[in-house]
Amino acid sequence: MINSNVQEAINQQIKNELYSAYLYLAMSAHFEATNLPGFAHWFRLQSNEEVEHAMKLFDYLNDRGGRVELYAIDKPPNSWASNLAAFEQALQHEQKVTGLIYKLYETALNENDYATQVMLQWFIDEQVEEEKNATQIVEQLKLIEERGTAVLFLDKQLGKRSGEE
Ligand code: FEO
Repeated sequence: MINSNVQEAINQQIKNELYSAYLYLAMSAHFEATNLPGFAHWFRLQSNEEVEHAMKLFDYLNDRGGRVELYAIDKPPNSWASNLAAFEQALQHEQKVTGLIYKLYETALNENDYATQVMLQWFIDEQVEEEKNATQIVEQLKLIEERGTAVLFLDKQLGKRSGEE
């Protein structure tokens, strides 16, 4: 039987992951409405990933004989002042989620719940990836503002170099 503090913390994190899905779905709708279907596609897949994260926790709690409790999800914003503003919010949100995952890990640590600590390793690794991806897009959008798109085009060309050359 899972410890009640750990159970409560996992239930809170299920809600947090579903809020992430909601936030990115709102961003996807925003980009659909502003005629950037590629941006919309990226956020839609991001939203789907967040549902998967929530379901990983949902399944884990059930596997441990715990009781899932679904909490209310806040309404996300509906529009953003610029493309950069949306990605900056996505990055800030991921940094916040990283902190929430660490708090959850600390709860598992304090309760000597080793199985939950092992399960959360996946989330800790995932957050490194999530922050890296969001940071890269934020920085590239800033580059476009400062130096135009040519530098990104050149970067793409350079990235194609094979080990033979
Ligand atoms: Fe569920 Fe974007 O981390």
